[in-house]
Amino acid sequence: MRKRMVAGNWKMNKTPREAVDLVMLLKDKIDREDIDVVLCVPAINLIAVADTIMHTNIKLGAENLHYENCGAYTGETSATMLKEIGVSYVIVGHSERRSYFKESDEIVNKKVLKAFEYGITPIMCVGESLEEREDAITVEKIRIQVKKGLKGLTDKQAENVVIAYEPIWAIGTGKVATNEQAQEICHAIRECLTEMFGKDIADKTRILYGGSVNGKNADELFAMPDIDGGLVGGASLKEDFANIVNAE
Ligand code: PGA
Repeated sequence: MRKRMVAGNWKMNKTPREAVDLVMLLKDKIDREDIDVVLCVPAINLIAVADTIMHTNIKLGAENLHYENCGAYTGETSATMLKEIGVSYVIVGHSERRSYFKESDEIVNKKVLKAFEYGITPIMCVGESLEEREDAITVEKIRIQVKKGLKGLTDKQAENVVIAYEPIWAIGTGKVATNEQAQEICHAIRECLTEMFGKDIADKTRILYGGSVNGKNADELFAMPDIDGGLVGGASLKEDFANIVNAE
């Protein structure tokens, strides 16, 4: 039985003070032990959020990390730094990073491995563009991202990694994938994991859907057999995030 996960992705939103206000508003409403609730916040907010979620069931997530331990990488944040302040999860390979910051599958793979090296669980994002969907190459694209992104993982790591299927055309557009579309691709991801690591492991790996998830559509999406929760952008910046966490 896979534990449901709902992760917020704040992207480049909220100052540290605003972050504390939002977490204060949310924390009593999302006190769930049966679900992994994660807040992935900008690096500058991590310490303030870590303090605010202390003694709650909310877990701390980062939005990115560098694949080296330290050194001359101006502006970057390492896994060591994240680990020291209590980060448990990190988003890797979000489509915005892949497109604006030219992150390749090879870089994504290095980051996934580095996160695991420091005991941080990566949430690896995959997803197709509208053009790729229209050209009917969605499954091919996703399979490449999964195979390259998870290259070299041990069985234990493959069991623990979280994959977020986020169709690019559904991100921040209000155009959510249908339950069937999301299920179809999440199932294809699980099949790909089965080929790579075997069925026992693939059955344990959590696969999230992301792309315009909100308090109204979360129930039905999360009820699909291969969807184990959501990665939530816009709606994680509002009280509605609590409705998504508490979706049946
Ligand atoms: P959205 O973003 O919920 O605003 O569509 C999801 C994401 O990019 O993770």
